[in-house]
Amino acid sequence: MDDGGGIRMTTVVAIDGPAGSGKSSVSRAAARELGFDYLDTGAAYRALAWRCIEQGIDTHGPRDVIESLDSFEYSIGIDPDRYFVRVGSEDVTEDIREPRVSAIVSRVARIPEVRSYLVELFRSIIASSSRPGIIVEGRDITTVVAPDAEVRILLTATEEARMGRRSAEIAGVSAEKTAQELSSRDAQDSQVVDFMNAADGVTTVDSTDLDFDQTVLAVVNLVRTQAG
Ligand code: DC
Repeated sequence: MDDGGGIRMTTVVAIDGPAGSGKSSVSRAAARELGFDYLDTGAAYRALAWRCIEQGIDTHGPRDVIESLDSFEYSIGIDPDRYFVRVGSEDVTEDIREPRVSAIVSRVARIPEVRSYLVELFRSIIASSSRPGIIVEGRDITTVVAPDAEVRILLTATEEARMGRRSAEIAGVSAEKTAQELSSRDAQDSQVVDFMNAADGVTTVDSTDLDFDQTVLAVVNLVRTQAG
């Protein structure tokens, strides 16, 4: 980010991609390797959706969700070794991954007022980083949140590979159900932001034939060459 005086303080690495592309775990491992911070933006959409469920806020229309933003107290750990997500004083790190949250998060994420509120929040979190860099991952980071990031990456994999990884992550849920949920969430989310095609200047990393360590290395190498 630019401090206004033209001095680059923190290198911003923007990573977008669909569900199951390995974005979160790859971004976190790459941040660790580089000594950077790591910001998972999907966690904020999930935390808001979780709070709507807990407080009985109607997510079918935008009004109640928008009103709830005023009292949304959100915090997230950006140290890759101290990741947490909190709403108020409650730790919701695990709760926001529950299927009941995944099932409604797209509805919350498609509300323009929610998006602009969270985009500002993400920018202030990025500005608060005191490390040499921060990896920010989500769906609209390369295009909306940080379009001027030094490094911009689209992390993809074939639908088959993504579904295979996601069902390996979620024990006890059938592969078909996982595949169905993932593709319906991607279909809904991609109506709001295009995270399937790389925008101008964005480098695509296709992880279909790469294992986890190879994908992390590909990202780390890109950061070292493009931000160096
Ligand atoms: O990456 P994830 O599955 O934790 O994201 C949760 C939801 O939030 C997902 O359905 C899409 C939405 N999201 C978004 O719209 N923009 C982002 N930058 C990050 C996530």
